[in-house]
Amino acid sequence: MSLAPGEQAAGIDETAAGAPRVIPARYDWRGFGFETRQIHSGELPEPGHGSRVTPIHLSNAFRFDDFQQTWDRFAGVEDGQLYSRHLNPTNQVAERRIADLEGGTGAIAVGSGTAAISSALLGLLESGDHFLSTASIYSGTQVLFDRALGRLGIEVDYVWDWRDRDEWERLIRPSTKAIFTETIPNPKNDITDIAAIAEIAHDHGIPLVVDNTVATPYLIRPIEHGADIVVHSSTKFLGGHGAGLSGLIVDGGRFDWAATSRHYGLLTDRQKPEVPSFLERFGTEHAFERYLRLTAVNDFGPALSSFNGFLLQQGLETLSVRMDRHVDNARALAGWLDEHPVVRSVDYAGLPSSPDHALAERLYGGRTGSVFAFTVPGGLEGARTLIDNLQVFSRMTNIGDTRSLAINPATTTHLSFSPERRERLGIDPGLIRLSVGLETLDDLITDLDGALGAVAARL
Ligand SMILES: Cc1ncc(COP(=O)(O)O)c(C=O)c1O
Repeated sequence: MSLAPGEQAAGIDETAAGAPRVIPARYDWRGFGFETRQIHSGELPEPGHGSRVTPIHLSNAFRFDDFQQTWDRFAGVEDGQLYSRHLNPTNQVAERRIADLEGGTGAIAVGSGTAAISSALLGLLESGDHFLSTASIYSGTQVLFDRALGRLGIEVDYVWDWRDRDEWERLIRPSTKAIFTETIPNPKNDITDIAAIAEIAHDHGIPLVVDNTVATPYLIRPIEHGADIVVHSSTKFLGGHGAGLSGLIVDGGRFDWAATSRHYGLLTDRQKPEVPSFLERFGTEHAFERYLRLTAVNDFGPALSSFNGFLLQQGLETLSVRMDRHVDNARALAGWLDEHPVVRSVDYAGLPSSPDHALAERLYGGRTGSVFAFTVPGGLEGARTLIDNLQVFSRMTNIGDTRSLAINPATTTHLSFSPERRERLGIDPGLIRLSVGLETLDDLITDLDGALGAVAARL
């Protein structure tokens, strides 16, 4: 079932006599608080048994009422279930919920964060196009940009200092069709100001795509700061338990695809003279999300399993509670590490010692997430000693798990980077990235203290 925003769906109740009675089900929770909406927003009625938790619809395809409905669904004249590659009722709940929490007009769920980023960009860019990204983004996304998109003839340039307007102006070309950034990059926790970057993008008629994985809409909502599209690796904090990969793309619904001198033909052009373009059919509000759902995601096929969609939804319901605890633990640990005699430096924007402190206070009240880094003496050998002496922290990639995780970026996430690029990104051989989980703070401190003691003993 597909409903327009504000529409109320029908649910079915059993009367005393056992006959079904249709009752209205609320799924539109606009105007309610964040915590209420993370639990209720987007839910669909389950008329069969009245299950309170959205069932896992493990069905590849959906039955049509009759010949005409089948035709209309394929023709796109009628909205609704067809095939799970582009719409599944379990995943739809997570889609509606994240759209609400981020303040977008719609969203689409896919199989991973990487699929969310590649799908979003494939909705904007064609071979021969160019885009810009800030340089400190997640290493895997840089590999996607340089290797995979490069192979398709889509070129990227990196902006090293997002505060430097001249650098942006030098790099923007007539063929530049997107700007990409992250709210809280990792491992360095070197936050960006979305409003400042959005201003540059919009001055040039370019949409801004923001990866909000590490911050989540609980800490910041990029669309409120001017972003046009938000992407997530919901594998991380949104899902929250490290149990299933997923990705989300949220359409801000505000970018005017026809009013810019740049050509967004995928959205504005008719594929056949008699078939209206996505912009003509769905307007500025929904053109991008519908293009992804019916074309980019449907054609490339990075579909999300409804089982993982269910896990994502379960995670979303406790987002605010977990994020508060993640950030409380992270801030306490960052402050403790900052004072530790063995630690050379700590990269956490919320710390008073950080060059980003003022921005962190303004945008996040100093609560810049729970993924950050610190540097131990002794380079790679110092890092090896620290990592090998951890007991509570897991030696693991991934972030945003309930568990605390630690990794040495130089020998893992940034291993394929040249030494020069690593150095320019501040990836010292002795850098340790933490994703701080929900465990007892004292246990995390004791664990790190013991491992730092081992590092000191080797000096
Ligand atoms: C900020 C960020 N974006 C995107 C991704 C990619 O997500 P996934 O692993 O779900 O493909 C990651 C993964 O670590 C990430 O940290």
